[in-house]
Amino acid sequence: MKAIAIENPGKEYRLVVADIPTPQPKTGEVLIKVSAAGLNHADMAQGAGRYPPPPGAPDTLGMEASGEVAEVGTGVTNYKVGDKVCALMGGGGYAEYAIASEKCLLPVPKSVSLIHAAALPEVHFTVWTNLMDAARLQPGESVLIHGGTSGIGTAAIQLCVARGHKTFSTAASAEKCAVIEKIGGQAINYKEQDFVEIVKKETGDKGVDVILDMVGGDYIQRNMSAAAIWGRIVNIAYMSGMQASVNFAPMLMKRLSLLATTLRARSNDEKGAIRDALLKNVWPLIDTGKIKPIVDQTFPLADAQKAHARMASSGHIGKILLTM
Ligand SMILES: NC(=O)c1ccc[n+]([C@@H]2O[C@H](COP(=O)([O-])OP(=O)(O)OC[C@H]3O[C@@H](n4cnc5c(N)ncnc54)[C@H](OP(=O)(O)O)[C@@H]3O)[C@@H](O)[C@H]2O)c1
Repeated sequence: MKAIAIENPGKEYRLVVADIPTPQPKTGEVLIKVSAAGLNHADMAQGAGRYPPPPGAPDTLGMEASGEVAEVGTGVTNYKVGDKVCALMGGGGYAEYAIASEKCLLPVPKSVSLIHAAALPEVHFTVWTNLMDAARLQPGESVLIHGGTSGIGTAAIQLCVARGHKTFSTAASAEKCAVIEKIGGQAINYKEQDFVEIVKKETGDKGVDVILDMVGGDYIQRNMSAAAIWGRIVNIAYMSGMQASVNFAPMLMKRLSLLATTLRARSNDEKGAIRDALLKNVWPLIDTGKIKPIVDQTFPLADAQKAHARMASSGHIGKILLTM
């Protein structure tokens, strides 16, 4: 089968179409005939040689895909050949066929095309577990989502809005802010406005209860300023820096929690628990169109390199997909 392999891993990595054996599903796994695969920052980090796949995962890229079940391994009970699914996977999604654990599979929601379903798994697993499991977001609480037009951001804003949370979100341009407003968030153009000031002003000086951050760097201190008493700040990445000089006094004075998690290395059982929560709480909202996948662009598999360049440019809004 055709799959994307990494040539020259490192800063100047190249993505090429390779012919590799079609994988076989083991116990508890399914083989998916892939229709589309979603891009993630982790794929770029893997190409650059900074983020090896977890043990047991294929070397080829791709952490999520949509398609039809082509074969089921022993012990698979909830899915059968021909089912239309989308899935989170340890790797190997940029390919004609990919393996996923049954625990990481979800049906394609009624309102979503088979191709756009590839935009759903990674963002919804990540958003749910960080907002609900880590930050323990409660009904009626306010939220600040950084990187509002990222794949993660567009999913997080829609989930928070659908569940009735006052939702602020930052982005770098008027065009990106317009998208945030369109999906129900209150946009803050961070190139022109200070998110701490806006959040304080709009919450009567209280601050926000939960912050979902992928930026890090100097946002670590500023998030503490924007947080309410008993606020929870959860980092899923540190795109502008892993290191910062921080005054921790607000942590004590405001009784804050500073959290950070990654998804990829978790066990299939842990991912399965998140999948169950998504099926119960999020998939009905997608089925009815209250939450939609926001797709920036699709590229044919052979143009994976161009797709990565698009993601690296930060010009995109929502998810970038590869189609088979
Ligand atoms: N921990 C986890 O389990 C987990 C899971 C999934 C994703 N992630 C991470 O979450 C982040 C978002 O993922 P995604 O797929 O949604 O990304 P994405 O769609 O590529 O969006 C990233 C956005 O972040 C914003 N940004 C802010 N500061 C930035 C900086 N210094 N450098 C680059 N971009 C910056 C950019 O928007 P502006 O132009 O508005 O600044 C950019 O569009 C990535 O870092 C990813 O690795 C973590």
